[in-house]
Amino acid sequence: MPTGTNRQILLTSRPDGAPSLANFELVERPAPEPRDGEVLMRTRYLSLDPYMRGRMSAAKSYARPVEVGEPMVGGTVGEIVASRHPKFAVGDIVMGYAGWQDYALSNGAGLRKLDPAAAPVSTALGVLGMPGMTAYAGLLEIGQPKPGETVAVAAASGAVGSVVGQIARIKGCRAVGIAGGPDKCRFVVEELGFDACIDHRAGDFARQLEAACPAGIDVYFENVGGAVQQAVWPLLNDFARIPVCGLIAQYNAATPMPGPDMFSVLRKRLTLRGFIVWDFAARQADFLRDVGEWVRSGRLKYREDVVEGLENAPAAFLGLLQGKNFGKLLVKVS
Ligand SMILES: NC(=O)c1ccc[n+]([C@@H]2O[C@H](COP(=O)([O-])OP(=O)(O)OC[C@H]3O[C@@H](n4cnc5c(N)ncnc54)[C@H](OP(=O)(O)O)[C@@H]3O)[C@@H](O)[C@H]2O)c1
Repeated sequence: MPTGTNRQILLTSRPDGAPSLANFELVERPAPEPRDGEVLMRTRYLSLDPYMRGRMSAAKSYARPVEVGEPMVGGTVGEIVASRHPKFAVGDIVMGYAGWQDYALSNGAGLRKLDPAAAPVSTALGVLGMPGMTAYAGLLEIGQPKPGETVAVAAASGAVGSVVGQIARIKGCRAVGIAGGPDKCRFVVEELGFDACIDHRAGDFARQLEAACPAGIDVYFENVGGAVQQAVWPLLNDFARIPVCGLIAQYNAATPMPGPDMFSVLRKRLTLRGFIVWDFAARQADFLRDVGEWVRSGRLKYREDVVEGLENAPAAFLGLLQGKNFGKLLVKVS
């Protein structure tokens, strides 16, 4: 039974812009003792992840913020050091969410036992944990990569991006990474096997990215937003898919970026998909059947704005661009 001290790192104030050490405080408290149905975990590994920046802020998001004075949240791998829970024994290694502290109690909910013989236990926080799952599901479910396509991903040496590019390669795609600095880029190509990796800090980044994507980009796995997103956008091919996973370049921004609010796309899981009507040509018979019937039965109403005489077409058209038409604008030619 541990009788040690529990060091906790508390959020003591909310950052305005970039966080600083002044937002945190380390305190020492006695390690708690489990009651019936509880275990006490001693943290071996704490995962630090970009989402924690969001939890420091009171802004509305998909998850509750950390309250000022509370320990910071975080995924952990820990050892059970005391157990009054039938399913966990002292010595078990578990993945859980103990937060930024040495010890934490749990009633077992959300704990996952790890097998140290199967993989190093730290991987439960990375490649075999939440970031790996993010890459796998986001790329395959939303990105829908097909052999021969080009998949681009930023933060390519990091927890999510490294997995995205390697799965893209496994699926027969060209994987183009974007990372900060030559060392990361070299690692991404030489160790991870991406086809290319471009340094987003290089002066001619956009030109280099274009050269690395000679057939354009079919899947852009969005991890960062900001300037990288702006360089990627012109290279997107028709029918490209963009899993909007993260926007780390914007997490400290005090004011929203110009343009559509990509945070809403992420936070509200919006689906954004462009289309041209003839993409759905195969549905024309369904359209004529259904809408024809609704018009005939009066369930669907329509209004026409009819201008007399071909000679009035130009003025009518200019009016259309100023909202002067009221209903479907037509010219009665004869
Ligand atoms: N939607 C989800 O469920 C979900 C789950 C997990 C992660 N995420 C998101 O996925 C992204 C990657 O997370 P991760 O855990 O894999 O982190 P990570 O890549 O291991 O670490 C963060 C990296 O982001 C890059 N970065 C930071 N500021 C940047 C900027 N201003 N411009 C461009 N790149 C910048 C840096 O890499 P470089 O030096 O290479 O630029 C940094 O090393 C984050 O946006 C995160 O929020 C989302």
